[in-house]
Amino acid sequence: MGRILAITNQKGGVGKTTTAINLAASLAAADIPTLLVDCDPQCNASSGVGVDRQGDYPNLYQALVDGRPAVEICQKTEVDGLFVLPASRDLVGINLELLEQQDREFRIRNALRPVLNSFGFIVLDCPPALDLLTLNALVAADGLVIPMQCEYFALEGVSQLIQTVEAVKANWNPGLEVEGVVFTQFDERTNLSRQVADNLRGYFGDRIFQTTIPRNVRLAEAPSYGKPVLLYDVRSRGAEAYLQLAQEVIEREHSRKSAQSTGARA
Ligand SMILES: Nc1ncnc2c1ncn2[C@@H]1O[C@H](COP(=O)(O)OP(=O)(O)OP(=O)(O)O)[C@@H](O)[C@H]1O
Ligand SMILES: [Mg+2]
Repeated sequence: MGRILAITNQKGGVGKTTTAINLAASLAAADIPTLLVDCDPQCNASSGVGVDRQGDYPNLYQALVDGRPAVEICQKTEVDGLFVLPASRDLVGINLELLEQQDREFRIRNALRPVLNSFGFIVLDCPPALDLLTLNALVAADGLVIPMQCEYFALEGVSQLIQTVEAVKANWNPGLEVEGVVFTQFDERTNLSRQVADNLRGYFGDRIFQTTIPRNVRLAEAPSYGKPVLLYDVRSRGAEAYLQLAQEVIEREHSRKSAQSTGARA
């Protein structure tokens, strides 16, 4: 069964979408069938893997509101083994549209259930808010990947995010884990980056990925070509960093599985 990872942080512009696109593409490049789900009405993850936003394409809104099967909505991408379930602007209204629905927090989880066996990983790109779409993503997820920029304001959102995770665990999804925190646009030469990183280690300990994502212009350019950085410039430092992050994610998954099977035998 596929492991569902939500890429989340309510702060805007910290690298969620860049991480969702390039982690998903790097997992697919490691021969693991992967689905990228765009849960953000901004649709950046969709266009970043080549979905034509002018086109009239089936999208997540229809899955969540009309119950259209996810398998009818997923599209292939240019990366072998990487599929995308695109977003649409219509998702903006979903907080209100689902307000009266009993199962409103479970719509993404229910939509993904039938395709879980088709993928090794399902990567959800969240919007920059703790709204119903993010809540749906956290309820669907097995693990959270939290991109953080090592700047002063990064610390301010952390306790709110942790409170939200605890509330989701208590109310809807007891198995939810913090898969890891990844430092993005990281510049180890600055004291501030290092100080903030040290502070965050206090919160998250070994949940912080060893891989850090450097500031790299190729990562910023690739989406305008509708490509993950792997297809745009595979030799760039950005591409290398995301390939390495994918390896860490795969290793964590292997050690979790072997711990589970040891536990099951004991
Ligand atoms: N490592 C990086 N190096 C250079 N530019 C980056 C890097 N990561 C992200 N960017 C750029 O920073 C901007 C914000 O990144 P991104 O869209 O991934 O953040 P986000 O958290 O998804 O934003 P939002 O909260 O609006 O959804 C984009 O222009 C992106 O191209
Ligand atoms: Mg984004």
